[in-house]
Amino acid sequence: MIIAFVNQKGGVGKTTLALHIASELAKGGKRVTLIDADPQGSALDWSQLRHHCDYPRRFSVIGLPRETLHLEVPDIARSSDHVVIDGPPRVTALTRSAILASDLVLIPVQPSAFDVWASEEIVDLVKEARMFKPTIRAGFVANRVVVGTIIGRALRAPLRRLDIATLDTEVCQRVVFAECSSSGRLANELDKNSLAAREMVLLAEEIRELAP
Ligand SMILES: Nc1ncnc2c1ncn2[C@@H]1O[C@H](COP(=O)(O)OP(=O)(O)OP(=O)(O)O)[C@@H](O)[C@H]1O
Ligand SMILES: [Mg+2]
Repeated sequence: MIIAFVNQKGGVGKTTLALHIASELAKGGKRVTLIDADPQGSALDWSQLRHHCDYPRRFSVIGLPRETLHLEVPDIARSSDHVVIDGPPRVTALTRSAILASDLVLIPVQPSAFDVWASEEIVDLVKEARMFKPTIRAGFVANRVVVGTIIGRALRAPLRRLDIATLDTEVCQRVVFAECSSSGRLANELDKNSLAAREMVLLAEEIRELAP
């Protein structure tokens, strides 16, 4: 399965979700390759930090911020059970290529009207890519939902209008996730019993059902 996390809006959680889902999919000895398609290289930085700290390697991370991603990913996918693409900010040829390379496109969105409006552009790109590859599946993932608010639910109605389903699993705003990027760790390594770790298990389960 090839999954891309894309949204041209910066800071919505593409890298955070991509790293955690790659790790979840790697459980049980599956070979997972995370492709860092962001020229900023945040996933590569995270993986390098892990290497320096001698933390266990859960999946491979390669940097491939190229517009030819869709041509190169099939080769990489042949030697992996799953490929997870961490997309770049901004709509570029690179984002188009990441979408075209994928079986499942996941669009992290924060629960604000601005984020929903900003997603329209990505939805158009998915529709465009489906003209070449009609099998591409897509879904929104609500991220940074503030615990106890109903904003998460309010987000669903406008997203539905965009004709792409929103996954049931919502990821909340949690300090553990913020610590992951600076520490080179994953939520379940920082706190195995955290709600953050649990959310990633549930999100991965839902993703497996969408694209087995
Ligand atoms: N659910 C969350 N709870 C708390 N912090 C979060 C959550 N999701 C992401 N963050 C934090 O928000 C910041 C941006 O997240 P991330 O880097 O994953 O976004 P991105 O979409 O990949 O950004 P960019 O477009 O710059 O690549 C990071 O510091 C990350 O730790
Ligand atoms: Mg990122």
